[in-house]
Amino acid sequence: MLALPRRNPRVPPNNPKPTPTILTPMPTPRDWMTLSIRPCAVPRHAPAAIPGLRPFKTSDAEALARLMLESYRGSVDDGGETLDDARRDVNKLIADDFGAMDWGASIVVEAGDILSSATIVTRDRVAPPPLAAGEAFLAFSMTAPAWKRQGLARSGLSHVIELLRSRGEPRLHLVVTRTNTPAVMLYQSLGFENGPIGGEGGPHQSAPSVQ
Ligand SMILES: CC(C)(COP(=O)(O)OP(=O)(O)OC[C@H]1O[C@@H](n2cnc3c(N)ncnc32)[C@H](O)[C@@H]1OP(=O)(O)O)[C@@H](O)C(=O)NCCC(=O)NCCS
Repeated sequence: MLALPRRNPRVPPNNPKPTPTILTPMPTPRDWMTLSIRPCAVPRHAPAAIPGLRPFKTSDAEALARLMLESYRGSVDDGGETLDDARRDVNKLIADDFGAMDWGASIVVEAGDILSSATIVTRDRVAPPPLAAGEAFLAFSMTAPAWKRQGLARSGLSHVIELLRSRGEPRLHLVVTRTNTPAVMLYQSLGFENGPIGGEGGPHQSAPSVQ
């Protein structure tokens, strides 16, 4: 999954002092993970209904930016972003800059006038081998601090996985910062494996594409 990109620390303009040594911090490793979505001969029970769960809409942009800012705050992917940074990232998401939005497989959970959780899927554009372009990619999974550890991310993601399964989609991919323990534990518990894993069968013919 895409974490909020880290920003470069601001360098004062016209810094008069020469900098003798530039220490570049080691980037935190990120891992690809893949869930192989097996077709199910016996119809599966739909995951338990989550109150407030509904499709993500463009009119959620501001609420999603606030959720993004709050959910990542204090996490290993927190680069000190501001609300404007989060708004910019949400605008990029909606403009398909993080892969073509899959509106039909992206959901949010409403809690009053805010969003408590979101699970956003795009079609990855920069798939490294052995991935086929166009497979489903988990761009964001996030839960607001007051709702963390209450099963919202797991339920939202399970809902999305069942939806992809019903379309006949073979895989769901993501990228996660290796030290993001809550996210890694969540993904492992749902069956994601270190990837990227490719294989036969691309996106299902009948998979609804973008809005
Ligand atoms: C990762 C995140 C989405 C999990 O959301 P959540 O709604 O709290 O997750 P859930 O309550 O559904 O937890 C599901 C499982 O995830 C794992 N998990 C969640 N939080 C955890 C934590 N703090 N420590 C260890 N495992 C954790 C557990 O396996 C948990 O199952 P359990 O409660 O039965 O043990 C949330 O912490 C978040 O928004 N983080 C910031 C954004 C982010 O990093 N997103 C992922 C980027 S790839």
